[in-house]
Amino acid sequence: MEIAVSVLSADFSVLGEAVDRVAAADRIHLDVMDGHFVPAISFGSPVVEAVDDRTDQPLDVHLMVDRPLAHADRFAERGVETVTVHAEACPDVRRVATRLGEAGVDAGVALNPETPFSVIEHAVDALDRVLVMAVTPGAGGQPFQRAVLEKVRRIDEACDVEIGVDGGVGPANVADCAEAGADLLVSGTAVLGSEDCASVIRTMRRRTERRIQ
Ligand code: DX5
Ligand code: ZN
Repeated sequence: MEIAVSVLSADFSVLGEAVDRVAAADRIHLDVMDGHFVPAISFGSPVVEAVDDRTDQPLDVHLMVDRPLAHADRFAERGVETVTVHAEACPDVRRVATRLGEAGVDAGVALNPETPFSVIEHAVDALDRVLVMAVTPGAGGQPFQRAVLEKVRRIDEACDVEIGVDGGVGPANVADCAEAGADLLVSGTAVLGSEDCASVIRTMRRRTERRIQ
């Protein structure tokens, strides 16, 4: 199981300190929002580059943007390991996945809670990851929608693509995510809201390891 921490809920006046506090995470998850695909605007490639300068952890860029292909190359920079686009913004998932591969990054596709796996199933062989959203994208700190665990199970049964779960993830639900078949957990508020981020990350690891055995 890999754990990524989303820094969306960090204090951006000291973002570097937030990155330092989550050194125990496997990855840093960066939520890029354009104010079109989702109402909020978060940050762009300058912040991604600043985070890359601060840590050696692999970066996952989650593009909550319209026309993701117009942006993908800019984010397929040093340190970015995976770029995840939204199925809802991509008429041709296979083409986007190919372009991301050509840009040298792993290709992820995210599914909003109401978007069924069937929307991308035809192109899943071209993907490195499916990111199952457990909240409506656009903000951190939302409650985990347990119904998406059925989608995780469905994907896990249908293929062997890496499955991520993103939104509202924390110690209370990581074991269920692991049992459903998740390989990567993205957590923001549950980690950064704690004084001891490393301890929350350790707890999540322990609870997933116990449940998978
Ligand atoms: C929501 C983002 C998530 C979110 C996770 O649109 O994609 O990555 O920041 O943060 P929490 O764990 O607070 O939901
Ligand atoms: Zn995200």
